[in-house]
Amino acid sequence: MNILHISAECYPAAKVGGLGDVVGSLPKYLNQLDHSCDVVIPKYETPWLNRQKYEHIYESEIEMAGISVSFQILKVINDELGYDLYAVNIPGKFDRPGVYIDPWTGHAYWDEFERFVSFQIIVLEWLKESEDRPDIIHCHDHHTGLIPFMLSQCNRYREMSDIPNVITVHNAEYQGWAGLDRYVLLPAFSMRNIGLLDWNGQLNSLAAGLKCAWAISTVSESYMEELCIESNGLEQLFRDEFEKSFGIVNGIDADIWDPATDTLLDHNYSFRNRKKGKKENKKQICDEFGLNPELPTISFIGRLVREKGADLLPDLFRNYLYSEKEVNFILLGTGDPQLHEIFTNMEHDHMGYFDATLEYNEQLAHKIYAGSDFILMPSRVEPCGLNQMFAMRYGTIPIVRSVGGLKDTVKDISREEGYGITFQEFNLPDAAEAIERAVDMYYDEKRMSSMITKVMKLDFSWRSSAKKYISMYNKIKSEN
Ligand code: GLC
Repeated sequence: MNILHISAECYPAAKVGGLGDVVGSLPKYLNQLDHSCDVVIPKYETPWLNRQKYEHIYESEIEMAGISVSFQILKVINDELGYDLYAVNIPGKFDRPGVYIDPWTGHAYWDEFERFVSFQIIVLEWLKESEDRPDIIHCHDHHTGLIPFMLSQCNRYREMSDIPNVITVHNAEYQGWAGLDRYVLLPAFSMRNIGLLDWNGQLNSLAAGLKCAWAISTVSESYMEELCIESNGLEQLFRDEFEKSFGIVNGIDADIWDPATDTLLDHNYSFRNRKKGKKENKKQICDEFGLNPELPTISFIGRLVREKGADLLPDLFRNYLYSEKEVNFILLGTGDPQLHEIFTNMEHDHMGYFDATLEYNEQLAHKIYAGSDFILMPSRVEPCGLNQMFAMRYGTIPIVRSVGGLKDTVKDISREEGYGITFQEFNLPDAAEAIERAVDMYYDEKRMSSMITKVMKLDFSWRSSAKKYISMYNKIKSEN
């Protein structure tokens, strides 16, 4: 099967969060099952994309509400990815350093909606001209949600309306909203069907994708159920479309995330020398952050936003930092400027026990996974979550709120087959109790070492989930 993934992110070319990791690795594993996957993203001015060499594939222009937009389709010349990556160069729209946020101002680009509409139209124009069309079009999140709509509704793409298409929901909080009058940006369609773009009086790209795609997938089974109860206004739509929905938990790229070969680590280790390896890595990060390596070390890595529960962290950390109990906390991530300020102050107040690096830093993230005892994820919402899986592969025990994909991938140690620490409600006492249990476990050396053994043996690679995607593709192909 030829599958084309269309996305705003793809690691290592452009990554903001887990969407990039998934689109950067799932295609490789699908290819290993003898399929043929390509990925197409916008050509941003990211360092990785700027370093590549390209083959020019196609160029032309489109008209968006009477304004002409020129573009080039470029193929990245790089055989290390495990799939072919295409980058759409749209001068004036994507030749900027940020994916969504302007790094100079810290705010989203003003023309976010228009630029992603141009990207989506251009991908379809290219496919229309191409002799070799995919068997499946796979869209990801709201940035590509108008593609299923255009395929089914725009006269211009009628000849492609029989290509089965899927939309995967990685995050339903963001939906690609605009005023309904922005429909004029799209190629002509019957106004009778404008309702397909509309959700609560607004043009909603994700809603349009959910209504028009042949199938919906969510990045874990629990998330699929949760979306029907809470999804930032789309609950009823998720309920209505439940029949065509599939919950498929993400995997991780086990080649990149392997402590034995990880080139971003100074001290590699495998399952066999895990004790020594973890100790060396812990010493390294503790030295770097001025922490005592004898103490239990709990880290948070991720975007500092509400969804991830980042606003709970200051109180949760202070709970310990002001108590008799000694614990190290490490934090890596960027986000809410108010939280940046709080964490910067906390760093001064609790030197030697707390360190925050307020940036996106892939290498440091790898070192923290390897050198921590625990990884903390107190998420309010977690569609899948990859950090817990990265951590476990590195022998680091997850402390998570049991929600979405965290619920599906982490089993509490109180259960016989358990290997992580979970808590149910999003509140300070429950999260604090989970940390308490983690610290107790840390001092029970036998138990701690058996948990490390257990988590390192778990297989979170894409192998089984990639097969589930194939069954979904086959199902929609045969049913329609
Ligand atoms: C989003 C979600 C995260 C998920 C990732 C990849 O970033 O917030 O939970 O793991 O997408 O699907």
